Amino acid sequence: MFEKEVEKLKEEIKQAFEKVKDLKELQELKVKFLGKKGQITGLLKRLKELSIEEKRRFGKELNVLKDKVEELLKAKEKELIFKAEDRDEGLDLTLPGRRPGIGGLHPLSQVIDELCEAFTRLGFEVVTGPEIETEYYNFTALNIPEWHPARDMQATFYLENGSILRTHTSPIQIRTMLQRTPPLRIVAPGKVYRCDADVRHSPMFHQIEGLMVDKEVSFSDLKGVLTYFAKEIFGPKTRVRFRPSYFPFTEPSVEMDIGCVICNGKGCRVCSHTGWLEILGAGMVHPEVFRAVNYDTSIWQGFAFGLGIERIAMIKYGIDDIRLFFDNHLYFLQSFR
Ligand code: DAH
Repeated sequence: MFEKEVEKLKEEIKQAFEKVKDLKELQELKVKFLGKKGQITGLLKRLKELSIEEKRRFGKELNVLKDKVEELLKAKEKELIFKAEDRDEGLDLTLPGRRPGIGGLHPLSQVIDELCEAFTRLGFEVVTGPEIETEYYNFTALNIPEWHPARDMQATFYLENGSILRTHTSPIQIRTMLQRTPPLRIVAPGKVYRCDADVRHSPMFHQIEGLMVDKEVSFSDLKGVLTYFAKEIFGPKTRVRFRPSYFPFTEPSVEMDIGCVICNGKGCRVCSHTGWLEILGAGMVHPEVFRAVNYDTSIWQGFAFGLGIERIAMIKYGIDDIRLFFDNHLYFLQSFR
């Protein structure tokens, strides 16, 4: 019985949408099927008369039908407006103009711009480098010899010709130092690649690298610059802490955390109840790295840092799935305009 009625309704919907001629009729169809006293609504109300099993089956079926009618309404509306515009009599000069859609920057581009602006205010220059790299620039010159476990840790994509996709933006340090003479202050944003994918990892993501080389650059400068950066990006009240760490291309090495922006340091799921969020890696440029680019270590010192852009954006905007950045759903992207 119920089944027959659903089938009949489906047929009726199909025919009605084939016949509809103008927007007024379309509006009537909307009321007829989806309105408070509409036919789908009516059947949904009657579900309670059915057995559990039937309820499940027809409940689902009716909801699918409802979505379908909504879809049809939208599609038909577009079609009818289009048709009306085509015919002279459909031209209604009293209608307000339609604004052209305005584009916007991708949230990651916005964060990259914001980071670059913060660092350029301190005299850093923005540079870039190639995404297809050699193992030499990506690893060897950065004091990561072939046997080094760090090579495995950065699950590398190898190309057939022996090149690789850069696993981090650090090779830009090497390229810049070889091209220029110190002193220098650079930041280098860009895409990096690692064979890794889940809610927190994407095989392509973005990093920004920083490097400052001068005659008197100390660990205090590193702390000062990075503390400034954290406050610029996450707000003036942001707290930071530095923890000892290890990177082959810096000595000493640190990681910087900021007080959790979600719970204000009290401890929550996002910061794994530590009150802190890891933000970046940094350190004083390793003498081996300076040797690789022929900088005289008795004159020049420097610090470097590297951080993941997606991570910054996720923390800043409270996003918990990295894939949202790359799905390109308009709803998501429009919320950053
Ligand atoms: N390249 C490191 C990574 O991808 C990040 C990094 C750490 C860069 C310390 C640096 C640095 O320049 O000094 O994990």
